Amino acid sequence: MQTSPVHATAIDAAVAALRRGELIGLPTETVYGLAADAMNASAVAKIFALKGRPSEHPLIVHLACAEQLSDWAIDLPDAAKLLAKAFWPGPLTLILKRAARVGDWITGGQSTVGLRVPNHPLALRVLTAFGSGLAAPSANRFGHVSPTTAGHVRAEFGAALPIVLDGGAAAVGIESTIIDLSQSLPRMLRPGQIGRREIEAVIGPITEGAAATSPRVSGSLRAHYAPHTPALLCPRRQLAARAHALAAAGRIALVLSIGDLPATTDGRALPTQANGYAQQLYAALRDLDARAADCLLIEWPRKQRSWTAIRDRLQRAVAGSTDAD
Ligand code: TXA
Ligand code: MG
Repeated sequence: MQTSPVHATAIDAAVAALRRGELIGLPTETVYGLAADAMNASAVAKIFALKGRPSEHPLIVHLACAEQLSDWAIDLPDAAKLLAKAFWPGPLTLILKRAARVGDWITGGQSTVGLRVPNHPLALRVLTAFGSGLAAPSANRFGHVSPTTAGHVRAEFGAALPIVLDGGAAAVGIESTIIDLSQSLPRMLRPGQIGRREIEAVIGPITEGAAATSPRVSGSLRAHYAPHTPALLCPRRQLAARAHALAAAGRIALVLSIGDLPATTDGRALPTQANGYAQQLYAALRDLDARAADCLLIEWPRKQRSWTAIRDRLQRAVAGSTDAD
């Protein structure tokens, strides 16, 4: 692993801040996290205060390696070991029965804990130097679009978060896949880049969606990951007509398209491949949001397996909007 002196100093400062019970902005391969010492209740309380997040929502604990699993979880099923071996470090969070030392301040009082080893060199260096788990939700204010660059994190929190490690643009761009292994049948609680088929290839059949007995997942709230501008999903063939109808009514509509923007529309064009699209999605939503339009028209991707997680995030991004027509 490359060790640049700038990063070495920055990492030392970040680890010292974490030891003092302060928060840092931490890059991961999915989205940036707002990290605190997971064993320090008052440090973790600062995450909830800064994000404006309800305190009963549980946090993911980030680890340096899978060997640390047994410090945080008990009754580890074989599926946990297999998935950790197959996908860690990587964009997969496992929900497991919590070890006794894991406080209610992490789990929101639930008997389970979410654990993940992120696949980002800076995050792994911080975690290794810190030597224990870091609680980190996405580094955005509650309900807002997750940050995928250090600049996004600074824009969210400004001077309230003096240390933000810059690890470049997140490579995955959407939050980790969450698999609940705390009940008899493994269950996908949040889709992500690692898809259901890939999980099933390792551990056999799983189910999807929250059960009545499932732990609470804030990312599963209907309106989440949302831009401020009212947004709606629209099939490609209707994008231009809707944009023009809004313009005729004196309203500014911006388009977020897959591939080229339709002629005579304004907005952003994203890659046609799911992974490339996901990597740029949140940055594009932030850019479009900053233009203070009346409405975002988001091209609704076709129903293909590789777009499942993107469709999930887009649905949530528009859920809080009333129809802009
Ligand atoms: O990719 C990610 O997962 C990013 C990066 C920073 O690691 N983190 C992230 O954290 O998305 P957050 O807090 O924004 O979303 C984590 C989700 C939440 O919906 C939370 O409710 C859920 O994980 N979660 C955490 N612990 C849980 C538990 N014990 N049971 C059920 N859900 C849990
Ligand atoms: Mg989040």
